[in-house]
Amino acid sequence: MALRLTTAGESHGPTEVAIVDGMIAGLGLSAVDLDRALARRQVGQGRGARQRIEQDRATILSGVRNGFTTGAPIALVVENVDHASWTEAMSAAPVDPADAGRLEAIAGRAIRRLRPGHADYAGAVKYGHRDIRDVLERASARETVMRVAAGGVAMALLRRAGVDLTSHVVAIGGIAASARWESLDDLRSRAEASAVRCADPTAAAEMVARIDAAGKAGDSLGGVVEVIATGIPVGLGTYAQWDRRLDGRLAQAVMSIPAIKGVEFGLGFKQADLAGSEVHDVFLPGFQRPTNNAGGLEGGVTNGQVLVVRAAMKPISTLRRPLDSVTFPDGEPQPAHFERADVCAVPAAGVVAEAMVAWVLADALLEKIGGDSASEFDAHLAATRSLWPVALPGA
Ligand SMILES: Cc1cc2nc3c(=O)[nH]c(=O)nc-3n(C[C@H](O)[C@H](O)[C@H](O)COP(=O)(O)O)c2cc1C
Repeated sequence: MALRLTTAGESHGPTEVAIVDGMIAGLGLSAVDLDRALARRQVGQGRGARQRIEQDRATILSGVRNGFTTGAPIALVVENVDHASWTEAMSAAPVDPADAGRLEAIAGRAIRRLRPGHADYAGAVKYGHRDIRDVLERASARETVMRVAAGGVAMALLRRAGVDLTSHVVAIGGIAASARWESLDDLRSRAEASAVRCADPTAAAEMVARIDAAGKAGDSLGGVVEVIATGIPVGLGTYAQWDRRLDGRLAQAVMSIPAIKGVEFGLGFKQADLAGSEVHDVFLPGFQRPTNNAGGLEGGVTNGQVLVVRAAMKPISTLRRPLDSVTFPDGEPQPAHFERADVCAVPAAGVVAEAMVAWVLADALLEKIGGDSASEFDAHLAATRSLWPVALPGA
């Protein structure tokens, strides 16, 4: 792998942190680019009160100088504004048994009632925690803020190579969109104009009503997001080794987003019901492909077609009308703990999925094209393109 990403931070800790290592030098990058992506993650019908508290802004601590990457590790932080109400309970300092105020603050934030659908039970047993907050703080999807910031760094490289990508919501709570768009820019502007990041205004209005109804009933909803990427060079990934297939790498990255339970490419699961003649994308003279059922990958390698990745998100686990549960560790019946939660985070999950796809594409692009500086990267990319058959899209 050419690029490495490590994130750190607790949901109510002082900051979220990311270290991006392996990015070429000489790439234009500013915190403003990252903030734009972060702002898109915060919006959407059905988000909880936390999003009104946070104003996610990235600070670049290292690896960028005067607007350009230096080739050194890029350290990013995003402040958790909500931390101000959690300083004592979340402090890293050892607890003085005589400090009654501190003990009270910690006990006041302790969680004893398991939340079904969260890492609470498995995490507490695994790490030997008694207070489930020790699981919640890191298992929380607040961590995805750093994936979006790191995705912004990946995006800067992709733009340089002529790759563009965006995401949109294709279903929420069983309401499916049937969006048509002219170009990626058209899709982007339609999705960004919608309260649910859905390009089909009729479906979007129904989704909003469904989310509001679920919220009133103390319930939650999931859905499906789609990431579309254009301009990807042929040949990223390989069929030659299982763990280097790009379909597998993309699926892993997208599946690792909290609450994502399924990933498919192109026609996806539908292919299983169809005949081969209905599925496979024929070649016409000049390497033209009238269809793109494969979704941009064949044999785990990008084929020059548009990349189409879809991800299914389960409904949010924390319900205002709590599910049946038990206390931990004694197992006594009690309703699940409720902590401020979204009713639906599908629009935000699309932005996170976009960041994860950008990350994997940038990694694969650096692997194939390589270089330590932007000018080396450009020269390598031009050299690779010069070897392609002339009729290839993008050549
Ligand atoms: C952007 C985003 C926001 C989320 N917000 C919440 C939330 O407010 N409340 C909640 O219970 N789960 C939320 N989730 C989902 C949980 O983090 C996730 O279901 C949980 O950590 C368990 O992981 P798993 O569903 O992958 O098994 C969110 C997920 C994403 C991607």
